[in-house]
This record gives sequence, C-alpha cells and structure tokens, in this order.
Amino acid sequence: MQSKPKVLVTRDLPGEAISRLREILQVDLPTPDEEIGRERLVEHLVDKQGLLCLLTDRIDAEVLANAPLLKAISVCAVGYNNVDVKEATQRGILVTNTPGVLRETTADLAWALLLAAARRIPEGDRMVRSGKFVGWSPSLLLGHDVHSKTLGIVGMGDIGTAVARRAAGFGMRILYHNRSPSPLATEVGAEMVSLDHLLSNADFVSLHVPLNLSTRHLIGRRELDMMKPTAILINVSRGEVIDEAALVEALEKGRIAGAGLDVFENEPQLAPGLVGLENVVLAPHIGSASVETRERMANMAVRNMVDALEGRKPQHLVNPEVWSG
Ligand code: DGY
Repeated sequence: MQSKPKVLVTRDLPGEAISRLREILQVDLPTPDEEIGRERLVEHLVDKQGLLCLLTDRIDAEVLANAPLLKAISVCAVGYNNVDVKEATQRGILVTNTPGVLRETTADLAWALLLAAARRIPEGDRMVRSGKFVGWSPSLLLGHDVHSKTLGIVGMGDIGTAVARRAAGFGMRILYHNRSPSPLATEVGAEMVSLDHLLSNADFVSLHVPLNLSTRHLIGRRELDMMKPTAILINVSRGEVIDEAALVEALEKGRIAGAGLDVFENEPQLAPGLVGLENVVLAPHIGSASVETRERMANMAVRNMVDALEGRKPQHLVNPEVWSG
C-alpha cells in the first residue's frame, strides 16, 4: 500500500479541520508550546510534500530550497505575501489561499474600527474605567459623524466591496480607487477616482489592497498630507501598506484626525510613539478572528491541501500556471 503524503502544519487551527486532515494525510504538527521558528521549519520540511502555514510563517527562497519534496503550500489566510510565490512557481509548487470566507468578517472589523475611531469609543472606555468620567458635558469627547460622509476605499476587491455595502447603509457617498473598474461598484453606487482625488476628498479612507511591491508604503507622508485634517484612516489589509512612522507624525501633528489599525508595519512591533496616541484605535490583527470564519478558513486551507496532494486542482490556487492537470 502506498504511504500517505506528509504535511507539516505550523500551528493547530480552530475547529476539527486538522483532525480530519490527519485521517487523510500524515500530519506533523508541533505541540502548542513548541514554537516553530525558521530553523525548525526548515528541518521539518525536508521530508514533506505539503505545508499548511499561517501568514506569520515566512516561506522564502531559502526555505523552499530546503524542501526538495514539497508539492503544495496552503496558506490559511487570504493574503499570501509571506510566500515567495515566484520561487514556488519556478519550483512547480502549488500555492493556495482562503479567499471569500473571511470577506464579511474582515469588513465588520474595518467598520468597527471606523466607528470606534470616529466616535472615540476606546478613549471613552478608558475615561470611564479610570474614574475620569464626572458627568455629561456638551463638549465631552466630540467625534465625527459617519452617516452621510464620504468614504474612500482603496482596493475595491472582495473586502473593499463588503465595506462599501456597509457604507451604503450609512447613507455615505463612496469613492474608490482600483486598478480597474469594479463590476460591483455600481451595486453600491461607488465612483472610481484617482488615489489623489480620493485622499483629498474622503472623510474616511479604508485600505483593502494586497501587499506587493506596488502597494508597500502606498500611504506615506505625501499621501497623508493630502488627506483632510478631519479624516480618519483605516487599515485592515497589511501593515506595510502604510509608512507607519509617517502616520505617527501625521497623528501627532493633527494632520489627520485619527486612525484605526488592525495591522502594523513590523508586526507585532509598533512604530515608536504609536501607543501613546489617543487618536488611534489599535487591534491585534483580528480582521478574520471570529469563531465561524476561522473554522471556515481552516476547512478551506485543509481542502486546498488535500486536493493538491490527491491530484485534484485546488479551488483557490494563486499560481494556476503550475497546474498541469
Ligand atoms: C488574511 O487572511 O490575510 C488576514 O489578514 C487574516 O486575518
């Protein structure tokens, strides 16, 4: 009998997905207290046909060069910037991700950050907890209205469109910037504009682009300077899309009113000065972190892996050119 293909899973996932994977393939899963750093990752990959990894595992050319049997990498995330896809493609390795299933949950989080930053909810929470709330006052913690304002969406893909639908419910005017016109934009009455136009006209700017060479530091000092002094910047995409030092400076100097961030440039480290600012709402990269969505992502990542190793074309292949059928 042929032995089952071997898969390295870098961290256990919520739900039953990994138990099911064990029934089909040979799974190597580090114990919960075992940190699978780079060295161990390379060691463990030597005899594996599959790798099921997270966005925090850097799978670069050096790792791939040490994985002679590797046929498939299943990333349990929609963003796969942690994988050198070009190198994987050259080596004939299939790379998959988990799009779609986390769209609404991530859009919910973007919306939560937008409302929290606009209405200064974390500041209020800190005030109440510290006993500094001494009673209603006409000018206490005045924020900014969300309804009827202008939202600028940078990257009108799956998640950007889901955020736009929420904005439509708040009676907002929606501008978007995208490489090509979005077929879904008309559904929400969104208008395609240049990035500069969006930045200088939006009251809220929400980032939904994948991280790549053209989007790294897409929002830097120049772009922040173009935004309205009353504007709020939201990022649930990837931290490197914003020049974080420039953002700290803009928030310190009041060049923009606030920000809501779920992702950071050097995660989990934060740029100096960021934590001390009252006008930023910080979340620990929890865009897709709901029980239901994390289970859906795990199931999809497992299905992608099993399909790839059993010779079926995985549904969510990011480098289809590798597939030979
Ligand atoms: C993703 O899937 O890329 C998200 O950042 C995970 O929360």
